[in-house]
Amino acid sequence: MRLAVIGTGYVGLTTGVCLAEIGHTVICVDNDKKKISLLKKNKVPIYEPGLEKILKKNVKSRRLSFAGNIKDAIKKSEVIFICVGTPPREDGSADLSYIENVAEEIAKNMDNYKLIVDKSTVPVETGEKVEITIKRNLKKNISFDVASNPEFLREGSAVYDTFNPDRVVIGVSSKRAEDILKKVYRPLKTQILVTDIKSAEIIKHASNSFLATKISFINAVANICERCGADVEKVAEGMGLDKRIGRSFLNAGIGFGGFCFPKDLEAFLWISKKLGYNFELLKNVKEINEKQKQHLVKKIEDTLWVIKGKTIGILGLAFKPNTDDMRFAPSIDIINSLQSEGARIKAYDSKAKERAKEILENVIYCSNPYEAAKGSDCLAILTEWDEVKKIDLKKIKKLMKHPIIIDGRNVFDPDKMKKMGFLYKSIGR
Ligand code: UDX
Repeated sequence: MRLAVIGTGYVGLTTGVCLAEIGHTVICVDNDKKKISLLKKNKVPIYEPGLEKILKKNVKSRRLSFAGNIKDAIKKSEVIFICVGTPPREDGSADLSYIENVAEEIAKNMDNYKLIVDKSTVPVETGEKVEITIKRNLKKNISFDVASNPEFLREGSAVYDTFNPDRVVIGVSSKRAEDILKKVYRPLKTQILVTDIKSAEIIKHASNSFLATKISFINAVANICERCGADVEKVAEGMGLDKRIGRSFLNAGIGFGGFCFPKDLEAFLWISKKLGYNFELLKNVKEINEKQKQHLVKKIEDTLWVIKGKTIGILGLAFKPNTDDMRFAPSIDIINSLQSEGARIKAYDSKAKERAKEILENVIYCSNPYEAAKGSDCLAILTEWDEVKKIDLKKIKKLMKHPIIIDGRNVFDPDKMKKMGFLYKSIGR
């Protein structure tokens, strides 16, 4: 099938590349000239394991191409996926101006039937607005359908998630749209759930908010565990063995970050309010998440006493492993707090370093974990990279000024750390 993907961020690029890999002819469009020129040179502008390899393969077999101009892509494609950003506005609502622009462009440039599929995360009722916008801007009477097809891929495992989804959700208002989207996804051999457009839109917001709720719930439980001497890891294991609960997303730590959970939570709160419902629970989820970052700062304060003049080594800056994404990373608030108290920060993250430099000032960026440990009063683990899990702890201990590790991601076994002579503190145990 001939497909266009508008927007080449994490979702758009991965979707475009993977749809080409399963046999479709895909044009990926972006108005960012720099991005398109990189992509045309077979270079992926983000760090996402496995993506570049499949991109190269499909460009070579001519199933995948990149364009800066939307017009041609619309004319050549039967299905158009909208994957542009929906960044948060000051009040928490999603900025839908990019979606509106694309809808207008589609309307102005289409000359036969098109299925316009929204993949960007949007508040419920956006599908309706897209349909109105297209109708308003159409030059002649051409039939079209709008559909919602939310994306659930995770950064860092985006390619795997796209090929192995738990489900594909398609929100449609016509049999024609349903049949086309089923044909697009048939090669994935996965369960396809067909709903109306509004339900599909809510499935995305509700899923992300529910996962965020699981994380805040376990972080709240971790606080209880710390106060009474229980072990949150064991608690999560025991809870997770109940199939109705499940073990995933019950990892206590410094809270969730990234460009999806914080933003989608806000947007869901906003649209709930707009629809007349006060979603109190989500406010608590947000609040617990904010406190969890400061909880780690407090642990460092309690251990080091005076922060001013102390050197703190940071292991991991990205909001989670296997990505270079720094957006809403808990490390930002934690480092800012420590710096405001006068700490000197040395940080190591092999992938997120360049993006971190754009956000965090006055940080000494190290080229390996040992450099970050050297002479430090304390090490704080903020991202559970494999590289961090495998560090040579004996070497670390020798290099540090004091063998103190505050682990925000529960990477190491507290007993082992104690035996090795570390003053080791983690979350909820
Ligand atoms: C998320 C959703 O998982 C995905 O379905 C959606 O499409 C986009 O948003 P992503 O933001 O890439 O994906 O990362 P995810 O793996 O879900 O982690 C989000 C944050 O939660 C990270 O900061 C992570 O460290 C944190 N987290 C996750 C926890 O603190 N504990 C957990 O148990 C799981």
